[in-house]
Amino acid sequence: MMDALRLQVISCTKCNLSKSRTNAVPGKGNHSAEIMFIGEAPGRNEDLQGEPFVGYAGKILSDALEYAGLSRDDVFITNVVKCRPPNNRVPLEEEKNSCLPYLTRELDIIKPKIICILGNTAYGSILGGNSITKDRGKIIKKNDQLYFLTIHPAAAIYTPDLKQVLKDDMKTLVETLEKVKKGNQVQSLS
Ligand code: URA
Ligand code: SF4
Repeated sequence: MMDALRLQVISCTKCNLSKSRTNAVPGKGNHSAEIMFIGEAPGRNEDLQGEPFVGYAGKILSDALEYAGLSRDDVFITNVVKCRPPNNRVPLEEEKNSCLPYLTRELDIIKPKIICILGNTAYGSILGGNSITKDRGKIIKKNDQLYFLTIHPAAAIYTPDLKQVLKDDMKTLVETLEKVKKGNQVQSLS
């Protein structure tokens, strides 16, 4: 199922980003993952390697996962758009709309217990939010799906103090998942 989807993504020409990309970048990770991470779009390294979060932002994310006792093999990691926007600009509305069906299918296959939103682009396009700085650390429940909000790992490249913020959020995410699995109530906004 995921293999068929991967093949579609890597040959997709539905939006203009297909013209400037080197490789499209489908989501990657454990197909039975309980946590799915959603970033913004591939950057330079991701475009070259065809894999999500393999550059410096990816290292920051991996370190934070490890801090919370997770490895990348435990989780599934993807992006709102699967091709790199030129100069890493924010993806346009039409690009996000063209690419959204792939994210929806990744979600249908993985059926994560919780989705971790990484930064404002994912927050805006999936939940209609606009200030991840203000809202990070929060849990949202929408249409029976749980979400956890945190910063984009790339934000910690420019503001190193945010590395610890991301690490602490990853611990909260893991604790939230454990509560959910035990059937305990978690405090969420709707
Ligand atoms: N930033 C993202 O949002 N996604 C990646 O895959 C890499 C960097
Ligand atoms: Fe297709 Fe998405 Fe790439 Fe656009 S960004 S070409 S919709 S895979």
